[in-house]
Amino acid sequence: MDDGIARSRPAAWELLCEYTASEALRRHALAVEASVRAYARAAGEDEEAWGNVALLHDFDYEVHPTLDKHPQDGAPILRERGYPEWFVRAVLSHADHLGLERETPLERTLYACDELSGFVHACGLVRPDGLATLEPRSVRKKLKQKSFAAGVNRDDVHQGAEGLGVDLDEHIQRVIEALRPISRELGLPPVT
Ligand SMILES: [Fe+2]
Ligand SMILES: [Fe+2]
Repeated sequence: MDDGIARSRPAAWELLCEYTASEALRRHALAVEASVRAYARAAGEDEEAWGNVALLHDFDYEVHPTLDKHPQDGAPILRERGYPEWFVRAVLSHADHLGLERETPLERTLYACDELSGFVHACGLVRPDGLATLEPRSVRKKLKQKSFAAGVNRDDVHQGAEGLGVDLDEHIQRVIEALRPISRELGLPPVT
């Protein structure tokens, strides 16, 4: 098994950009990457590999925007580029409609960070200081407002944290802290 490609950030970024022109989608990838990396670091796992799985989890979304194609039609492309099967499986496992059980800490982490990273990002976008003073309490309040970031499935957020076995507030806090350093890349005011 050649894991070299799995651990190459430049290769992952290049593949993402090859298939994804949308700035919003690239930002989503970066946000999920930062959150998953934070979990990898905390658990002493392979941060590079975990980060690249996160960076690429939606790489084919722009060309396969429907559930009958995303992410399953992206999988052969990943295999073609030399990504190992555990990597491809982790990418596939984020999609509920494929019914894959999330078996590894990486798969559970990706799922838990996917929707919540987008939601925390959205919370930052409506605050003058971005993520600087955002707290889990106000994120939870926004989760209860159905009209706010309505595209984010609240059940997925709760199930993600449960699947990972973390308290929701701690999970939100970790994601906020993971996103602060990349505020500028996410189009948010930089946190100093
Ligand atoms: Fe996806
Ligand atoms: Fe995603």
